[in-house]
Amino acid sequence: MADRHIEPDTPELRARWGSFAWTAENAEKAKEIIARYPAGRQRSAVMPLLDLAQRQVGAEENTQGWLPIPVMEYVAEQLDMPIIRVVEVATFYTMYNIAPIGRFHVQVCGTTPCMLRGSDDIMAACKAKGLHKGHTTEDGVFTLTEVECMGNCASAPMVQINDDNYEDLTAADMTRILDELAAGKQPKAGTQAPGRHTVEPLGGPTSLTAMVSANHDYRGEW
Ligand code: FES
Repeated sequence: MADRHIEPDTPELRARWGSFAWTAENAEKAKEIIARYPAGRQRSAVMPLLDLAQRQVGAEENTQGWLPIPVMEYVAEQLDMPIIRVVEVATFYTMYNIAPIGRFHVQVCGTTPCMLRGSDDIMAACKAKGLHKGHTTEDGVFTLTEVECMGNCASAPMVQINDDNYEDLTAADMTRILDELAAGKQPKAGTQAPGRHTVEPLGGPTSLTAMVSANHDYRGEW
């Protein structure tokens, strides 16, 4: 796991983000999110609101988005909670970026199943493209982070890039995906293994085989 450092609160940061406010569209979304929780429990909305705020910052900057302190204060104020409680959430969960980030956040899983299936090669492919762990490339396009298991072990090795997962990767796949993203294209997400659809066993399914081509109803066969 890369070190995480919160972006310091400076006059420049305040000048840029001190007047942060929801866009009209996000104000509606925030209202709807808060309404999901019982009266008096509105603080439970802190996680989806931080996600919404991060996405709005990202849309303004054409990056993956992050959470400057004044933006966290805005969320804290809306939920009537101490700013430290919001900072605690944002710094604990790695889905929140607490320092400026590139347009594509490349999160390479380095936990044991991915490591055994070649995550070192994936890291090396990133490095060969000028990405360095914990850093953003000079052109602001990529930020590289090593993360812990993201629950895709059955299709290891994998990376998450923004909201998409890329699985069953080889170093060549990783290079191609980075090239396509840099060129403004959208690579196919999910497994990159030829012939594989999701995480079915290599060589094809061994059970529920009639489900492969249709939504087969097994009731009555047991
Ligand atoms: S170990 Fe990489 S997704 Fe689980």
